[in-house]
Amino acid sequence: MPRPDLLERLAVQTAERAQAQLQRRVRTIDTSQGPYVESGGRRLLAFCTNDYLGLAQDPRLIAALKKAADESGVGSGSAHLICGHHREHAMLEEALAEWMGRERALLFSTGYMANLGVIQALLQRGELCVQDKLNHACLLDGAQLAGAALKRYPHADVDAAARQLQSDTSIHALLATDGVFSMDGDIAPLRELATLCARENASLMVDDAHGLGILGRDGAGSVTQAGLDQHDVPVLMATLGKALGCSGAFVAGSTALIDGLTQFARTYIYTTAMPPALAAAARCAVSLARTESWRREKLAALIKRFRDGATQLGLPLMPSPTAIQPLLLGDARQTLEASRALETQGLLAVAIRPPTVPQGQARLRITLSAAHEEVHVDQLLEALASLHLGTAPV
Ligand SMILES: Cc1ncc(COP(=O)(O)O)c(C=O)c1O
Repeated sequence: MPRPDLLERLAVQTAERAQAQLQRRVRTIDTSQGPYVESGGRRLLAFCTNDYLGLAQDPRLIAALKKAADESGVGSGSAHLICGHHREHAMLEEALAEWMGRERALLFSTGYMANLGVIQALLQRGELCVQDKLNHACLLDGAQLAGAALKRYPHADVDAAARQLQSDTSIHALLATDGVFSMDGDIAPLRELATLCARENASLMVDDAHGLGILGRDGAGSVTQAGLDQHDVPVLMATLGKALGCSGAFVAGSTALIDGLTQFARTYIYTTAMPPALAAAARCAVSLARTESWRREKLAALIKRFRDGATQLGLPLMPSPTAIQPLLLGDARQTLEASRALETQGLLAVAIRPPTVPQGQARLRITLSAAHEEVHVDQLLEALASLHLGTAPV
């Protein structure tokens, strides 16, 4: 029998996905201005970015980036451990560690790489990695890369997590959870998980990609909001590409953790360091996110306005207190149609469909930002009302 062709199989899988109306499409954005994007000659009011604090276009970030680029150029030139670790990286790591109340922090080029690197550095083949079923894909991939025994528990079910940990008490164990769930917007039961990990002698890792800048004192995130510290959550990861409006990620924790990751996290070691100018912009973003609490207050007011309005309209809100306010429509095709209908009204809210979310749980992932104004939220609510989502299918 001749060897089957790999690319042919991929083409068949792609065609199958298209047939099921589940294919993903890339959209090119020409320009961004506040909450608006221009795409394909149209100006759209976006409710789908992760720029929750409205910092991505802040002139002070842009100035910091330009100044550092003038001084250090564009690329870092190398991996951190060769000669790519610039003063800007070091200063950003210090600023992040201080904000997180951790001894040290370590930069990664993306959140995806941070999670792969950390889990692969911590866990060895066959060791236990317990995860919430709704964790971000890169946490799950990290466990697979490590060759760990991945045990998933139903969303936010601490008793089930306990059973998974108790399935083998003789081996090393890591329990990893999103702090704020990326497709649902709810917050993990962090205090209960920390108590469980302490009891079971497991290490707790929190991915706070969507909590950083939004929750807790000074926006220090979901872990701070839960009153937990480095002892309770020894591995804290978060990204710079969401509320901080930049790109990249970091892990914060003890000196021993960061020293170990520097030696063993392959996605830290074998890759080019992020551009130093980006680190400079991110450090500016850290300072603004900490001090400009009006951004969090404005965001909270917009979230309340949206939830109040959506409740009045009978829309299928999810129990989320954060900037992620999905409308759970269920059917993938109807969700896509709702997204398209919004777009004809000048609004961009993308349909999130399986396999990104479980079967039957397609949703409009609406996100709010301090870059929005009340009139924008009202415009969204009016458009949603016209779709009659609360009462009948689109
Ligand atoms: C919870 C969570 N973790 C990690 C990531 C990956 O971060 P990055 O985009 O920096 O790769 C994302 C999304 O992008 C996310 O939502």
